[in-house]
Amino acid sequence: MIRSSTRLPILLCFVLTGCGIVDETEVEAPAGAPFPGLTTSESEQFGLGQALFNRAFTPEEGLGPLFNQVSCSSCHDLPTSGGHGAEPVTKVSHFDERTGCNLLKEDGGDLLQASVVPALRTAGILPERIPVSATAVTELRAPSLYGIGLVEAIDDDDILTRADPDDQDGDGISGRPGLGPQGLLGRFGSKAQHATLSEFIENAIRGEMGLTTPDHPTEERPNGLPLAEGSDPVPDPEIQTSDLTLLKAYVGFLAQPGRRTLDNPEDQAAGEEGERIFESIGCVNCHTPTFVTGTNQTAALDQKRFRIYSDVLLHDMGPELADICVPGARPSEWRTTRLVGLYLRSEFLHDGRARSVRDAILMHGGEAESARYRFQDLTPELQQSVLLFLRTL
Ligand code: HEC
Ligand code: HEC
Repeated sequence: MIRSSTRLPILLCFVLTGCGIVDETEVEAPAGAPFPGLTTSESEQFGLGQALFNRAFTPEEGLGPLFNQVSCSSCHDLPTSGGHGAEPVTKVSHFDERTGCNLLKEDGGDLLQASVVPALRTAGILPERIPVSATAVTELRAPSLYGIGLVEAIDDDDILTRADPDDQDGDGISGRPGLGPQGLLGRFGSKAQHATLSEFIENAIRGEMGLTTPDHPTEERPNGLPLAEGSDPVPDPEIQTSDLTLLKAYVGFLAQPGRRTLDNPEDQAAGEEGERIFESIGCVNCHTPTFVTGTNQTAALDQKRFRIYSDVLLHDMGPELADICVPGARPSEWRTTRLVGLYLRSEFLHDGRARSVRDAILMHGGEAESARYRFQDLTPELQQSVLLFLRTL
């Protein structure tokens, strides 16, 4: 089963693109740098977008009245701006087998804002609290944005072809496409609940920083309650479409970090062995090593093969990892995490509960349980080889 399901993408890849010809390092650069080969105007947009991403907004510029942080880079800053983050973000939801997922709009929505501007505080309004109607709470960690433009550049069909919602091949792994707004294929967010980067960014600037946008010119209400008079004097929208476009250019043009060679040649050889084991024990059934982007108007993203180690699909990871839901994903379903740049991180899984890569693997349940057992059945040396391989990604 493992063999046939991994051979197919390799074959397809030869037939469709000639994998040997397209070089995955073309889209790689040191952490935080843009894709190599951007045009002058694209590079300019990247630079202007980066300044906005790093800019600390003040209440006088529209921050709040409810917010979590003052800039994008407050949360996406490790090891450079655009990277992952250690600031947890609280999300809540209500799930019921009969009625499905409810994002608690009337109680202030699924994203909690942990800060308020001074004017709101003076009016006696406190940061949002977890509503009693919530059946689940999670503390999400910001993932790295390096290379995320490549995820947007994959053709829908290349993702959908890997989905097997009813597990027709009987390998215990289904994989469902994420659901974005208007029924579009979801790719972004840990529940694959957003279809495009622009939409995610617009959501982040509103939800995390409290800036209103042309599409959503009304402020969020604290736990669903009315806002105090005068707490938000800045005219809406507080950020313009042109700024959102620049943010999208920055995020979408971030290159992904290159593969790392381990210092010790023995470790390097063991890591190469680990790559073969990663494949043979079935990790690749969800952590798809590479994709090729479709045709793209940005030449730097046009038909590029890149390392991803994700199928961009949702998988049931078992009850231990279950917490919040979204309309398109049950509490136990999560999008396969991209493993590129894993060596830059120190907290793992959606809420950072695993403090080592090994722990993250041992917490895989549900559809990933048999791969986890096969990992546990390896000798300690071979387990170490897999971990060394993961350290090179
Ligand atoms: C308070 C912390 C915080 C701030 C501020 C923040 N983010 Fe995030 N970001 C997160 C978290 C947490 C996630 C994961 C969300 C999820 O899993 O659904 C995330 C996810 C993302 C993603 C999707 C990544 C993926 O793998 O699908 C993008 C894109 C993104 N953020 C961009 C931005 C931009 C642009 C800004 C500024 C406008 C911003 N973020 C501000 C915490 C933050
Ligand atoms: C059924 C699909 C599936 C299989 C099989 C699978 N994974 Fe995962 N993996 C996931 C999902 C989904 C997540 C995210 C879970 C979460 O955040 O709660 C994940 C997360 C991870 C992470 C944490 C990454 C991070 O940055 O947080 C690592 C490391 C990892 N997997 C390695 C492996 C290894 C090694 C194997 C083989 C033993 C494996 N996975 C098999 C789906 C899978």
